Amino acid sequence: MKNRFFFSTAAALSLLCFSCTKPHTTLSEHKQAFAPPIMGWSSWNAFRVNISEDIIKRQADLLVEKGLKEAGYHYVNIDDGFFGKRDGNGVMQTNEQRFPNGMKPVADHIHRLGMKAGIYTDAGNNTCGSIWDNDTVGVGAGIYGHESQDARLYFGDWGFDFIKIDYCGGDVLGLSEKERYTSIRNSIDKVNKDVSVNICRWAFPGTWAKDVATSWRISGDINAHWNSLKYVVGKNLYLSAYAGNGHYNDMDMMVIGFRNDSKVGGKELTPTEEEAHFGLWCIMSSPLLIGCNLENLPESSLELLTNKELIALNQDALGLQAYVVQHENEGYVLVKDIEQKRGNVRAVALYNPSDTVCSFSVSFASLEFGGKVKVRDLAKHTDLGSFSDSFEQTLPAHSAMFLRMEGDTRLEPTLYEAECAYLPLFDDLGKNPKGITYAHDKEASGKMKVKFLGGQSENYAEWREVYSEKGGRYQMTIHYSHGHQRQLEVAVNGTVTRIDRLANDDNHHQLSIPVELKAGYNVVRMGNSYNWAPDIDCFTLTKAL
Ligand code: GLA
Repeated sequence: MKNRFFFSTAAALSLLCFSCTKPHTTLSEHKQAFAPPIMGWSSWNAFRVNISEDIIKRQADLLVEKGLKEAGYHYVNIDDGFFGKRDGNGVMQTNEQRFPNGMKPVADHIHRLGMKAGIYTDAGNNTCGSIWDNDTVGVGAGIYGHESQDARLYFGDWGFDFIKIDYCGGDVLGLSEKERYTSIRNSIDKVNKDVSVNICRWAFPGTWAKDVATSWRISGDINAHWNSLKYVVGKNLYLSAYAGNGHYNDMDMMVIGFRNDSKVGGKELTPTEEEAHFGLWCIMSSPLLIGCNLENLPESSLELLTNKELIALNQDALGLQAYVVQHENEGYVLVKDIEQKRGNVRAVALYNPSDTVCSFSVSFASLEFGGKVKVRDLAKHTDLGSFSDSFEQTLPAHSAMFLRMEGDTRLEPTLYEAECAYLPLFDDLGKNPKGITYAHDKEASGKMKVKFLGGQSENYAEWREVYSEKGGRYQMTIHYSHGHQRQLEVAVNGTVTRIDRLANDDNHHQLSIPVELKAGYNVVRMGNSYNWAPDIDCFTLTKAL
């Protein structure tokens, strides 16, 4: 937001008052309880397709014996590799060597332990294991063409509670993700509406995902190496707008507890990296699925995985994903409300993905705190004291720090970043080269902006929780670039201001318009119904005197 001249738009404004379509329901309007991210264990990272009845039952027992069930890990998920061939009627058979007694006794064992059982399929014909692990029984094991039949078997006859639906087969066939996953969900609903569905399409699939799934993978497969974690976290940094109301961005099964002989890339994480990994999965509200062989789980990893204060961030009743509030040098600061919406308590992460030390200076005003702020280190279970103005910390390479902060007062927000906005047409499938997206821009505030906005009325950016304590008149200052021959429509609670003349170049500029906010949450949308809108960096709000 620095070094930008003010581009006067007074003459360029024309005020059109018409109503937008009804804004999406805001989180605050949802009073009903919803399930937190699932916690449990999954077979893929440690065993790949080499699973068996004995292995799954033993891992389920170990969840109980090691106190992991007690800590909240309730799902035992069987990944790729359980199937045999289909019979002449298309009925799925289980793998005779790996599961000689079929799948029901395995699900029953898990249920008897008071836990939930998960299973796996592919949205196409063939599973990923049949392609990448040469597991030929995975050919034809996908659910495509067998949706009702498999749903009855998995959730009716066998009684599974969760399913992960991969996409290797779907990819090969070039199927439509939205159509396939919606159709599968409908088949499952006919058997059991409570089944938790996970979409495994290795990218944010689109805003339709929340209508069919509890969680969706946002990245390719993880392995036990810092660069892999950094990649997964990087893919999720700007997706907080899509999590909520019991639906979550899935950062993949965790790689905590692996030691050098592991199958996950043959690597292992340092204790500091493991702590950053776990804390980030917690504060970003990812499902927490342990991926290692519990038989060999080191004590220090067990202690981390059962850290109550970190788990509480993940299972918090508000169900929110932390968003990036600061990105300076190599460091990121993430924050989210916990316990109470817009209360005085927030969870904060300082995250240093880089290979060198990183110094953080986080102003309390940017975290919306006034007065003194009490700070607690959640990983170390230690109160750090009470601070004024800012929190300073230097972190080593590949690390993160997780804090609970409690301020004397909570301030009204003044800055809304484009990279935190909800984009209804956003997906990360890579099929549309000009699809709306969050983009790096080193001149932008937070070094991020939104581009490919507009062109149709549905392609907008929306901030659903623009908060004003008392309501009234504000000056909204919009920071943008690429205004050349473009226009911008700004809707505040449905009242649209159309800005016809923007700075006629691709540089960064700002413009101001007066807006009227009501007390509480307001919905702001930016876009352009007929032409490209400029790239949006952020907007600020200043109360008019
Ligand atoms: C894909 C998924 C993994 C795992 C394997 C199984 O790669 O992303 O999580 O399920 O398939 O083959």
